Amino acid sequence: MSGPIIRFYRGSLLLGTAEAIPEHTLLEIAENAGVEISRNCTSGNCGTCMARIISGTVPLPNPLPPGLDDYLVENGAVLTCIGIPNGACDIDLTPPL
Ligand code: FES
Repeated sequence: MSGPIIRFYRGSLLLGTAEAIPEHTLLEIAENAGVEISRNCTSGNCGTCMARIISGTVPLPNPLPPGLDDYLVENGAVLTCIGIPNGACDIDLTPPL
């Protein structure tokens, strides 16, 4: 069985690829891909693990966690420590400015 593929980039550089696993966050999937993402709280509060969605969908909690705001979300931001992709995604580890 193979799940949807998650690809991790920094800018246009492909860093690694791994299969999505149900209930697993992007941070955990990145580890399977051999990609290190900086993290601190791992609970959606600090914003350290922020990345940007290039394509695909990662549902976010409502209301947004303290580490995100509407402006960042409009620019594709996702917190990889709490974001669970619901299909294939391309993720840029460079957060939106
Ligand atoms: S590590 Fe703090 S928001 Fe993800």
